[in-house]
Amino acid sequence: MGLVLADDILATGLQRIQREIDAAFDALLPVPDDARARLVEAMRYATIDGGKRVRPMLLVTVAEMYGASREAAVRAGAAIEAIHVYSLIHDDLPCMDDDDLRHGKPTLHRKYDEATAVLAGDSLHALAFEVLGGTHVSNDPFIRAELVHALASASGHNGMAGGQVMDMAAEEEDFDLRGVTRLQQLKTGALLGAAVEMGAILGKVPEEGRAHLRAYARDIGLAFQIADDLLDEEGDEEKAGKALRKDAEQGKATFVSLMGADKAREQARALSEQAIGHLSGHGSEADLLRALARFIVERDR
Ligand code: IPE
Ligand code: IPE
Ligand code: MG
Ligand code: MG
Ligand code: MG
Repeated sequence: MGLVLADDILATGLQRIQREIDAAFDALLPVPDDARARLVEAMRYATIDGGKRVRPMLLVTVAEMYGASREAAVRAGAAIEAIHVYSLIHDDLPCMDDDDLRHGKPTLHRKYDEATAVLAGDSLHALAFEVLGGTHVSNDPFIRAELVHALASASGHNGMAGGQVMDMAAEEEDFDLRGVTRLQQLKTGALLGAAVEMGAILGKVPEEGRAHLRAYARDIGLAFQIADDLLDEEGDEEKAGKALRKDAEQGKATFVSLMGADKAREQARALSEQAIGHLSGHGSEADLLRALARFIVERDR
């Protein structure tokens, strides 16, 4: 497949999922006519017209590859995006990264206040599981339970939140490549892995048929965070829509600080090609996953 064509299917695919996820949050979050209005407005502020939607895109693409309904997959995609957005709201708080800008707009606690940001994060966390527990995602209770289990295990101390605490430790303690790899697998890799896993669950892929998908997810998960760290080092703040040059300022151990930017980029590209290699058993139905693996390392935001 030519690069232009790959860019094309990727751009169209991303725009489509971005519209669908915006619409899902719009429907999930009507503003109540009471004192909760400010909280729900804050949740809408953080979720609608948000980021790239890479996690929903992965989930929906895998689900559709295996014949699951797109509508159900988009709903599950909104659930994983709710967890991701909550993680960003809390990540930006003064007690964590203390950031003022996200998606080119003031961060939630800057636009509203810290208490609202904490509670909007809490509420999005709960919303994710409310959505996955509902019959819109699947009328099979076993599938719903598997989805909840996959997302919950990727979100807590054995996943994203655990990675976040290691990430803070990486500002104070010496982390070697092994340590940084482990940290990033949890902080970023776990949710990206859950996106692929949840797509496989919806697509009813048997356990023994998921090994190549998990291998793909592991490689892009690591590549994704290396790209984020490279962006932090060399990116354009205008395009990224968030403050950059923070990792070095905080003395944080990352792949970039440990290997240098050029080696880190080489590593990210090698991981992306390795991820694509795991899809060799698929035909054109996996082209979007291949394009996504390349986009993840070459992106500028
Ligand atoms: C940023 O994630 C935080 C990390 C886990 C590295 P994304 O780059 O997916 O953020 P958005 O949602 O597209 O802004
Ligand atoms: C955040 O990582 C990862 C999360 C789990 C939210 P970063 O702190 O590097 O993300 P950015 O650079 O603020 O988006
Ligand atoms: Mg952080
Ligand atoms: Mg941050
Ligand atoms: Mg970062």
